[in-house]
Amino acid sequence: MIDYPLHAYAIVCDNDCIADAEGRFPDVLRNDADWLYFQSGLDRAAITLMGRRSHETNANHRNRLRLVMSRSVSALVHRADGWWWNPAERSLPKALKTIIPEGGEVAVPGGRDVFDLLGAASFTAFHLARAHGRAIPRGRGLFHVCETGTPSDLVLRDGGLRPGSIQWLDEENLVSLTVWRRRAEEELGSSE
Ligand SMILES: NC(=O)c1ccc[n+]([C@@H]2O[C@H](COP(=O)([O-])OP(=O)(O)OC[C@H]3O[C@@H](n4cnc5c(N)ncnc54)[C@H](OP(=O)(O)O)[C@@H]3O)[C@@H](O)[C@H]2O)c1
Repeated sequence: MIDYPLHAYAIVCDNDCIADAEGRFPDVLRNDADWLYFQSGLDRAAITLMGRRSHETNANHRNRLRLVMSRSVSALVHRADGWWWNPAERSLPKALKTIIPEGGEVAVPGGRDVFDLLGAASFTAFHLARAHGRAIPRGRGLFHVCETGTPSDLVLRDGGLRPGSIQWLDEENLVSLTVWRRRAEEELGSSE
């Protein structure tokens, strides 16, 4: 079976926001150690799946293969800046089979609409960094429900993911990382 493990990457603040009220990536979430961790995840992946806004606000300097989610296209379209995909017209496995028939890891840096559409239950792992002691009023949530007070931890648990131990990516600047994984993968890992 061709395998497309989905690995999400995000950094949130205390109130589980990934962006400010206008959808911009705010300075309070910028951190060099998180950026390096995120980039190493993208390097491991065969493709990066992101929402159209995230695609447009993050230049593709390393020319990685991108799959951009948008309602503006029909099914799956190849463009100079990557593959554009409309999930209402083509399933994700079918789209991936067209682009990377050999399989491979899919890195998913969001944003919120992508995380909502795929749902926590679809991820093999969710790499969640957190900038502690900071909040973004009326910001864009990791998931939509986070904007009305549902903690991201609850959404990830409900999706069948379990947290690994919390580690500091940057202790001085209070940025931590928790990798949430599907239990089956943990069991596989522990039997190796
Ligand atoms: N802190 C973090 O870790 C993190 C992670 C990701 C992003 N961000 C930041 O968040 C901001 C952007 O994120 P965002 O949540 O606003 O937007 P986004 O998820 O990146 O993109 C939203 C776009 O996705 C498309 N879309 C949404 N639902 C769809 C559906 N059901 N079917 C097809 N297409 C759909 C739409 O594109 P069309 O309008 O073209 O139809 C929509 O405008 C940026 O500033 C980015 O840097 C931060």
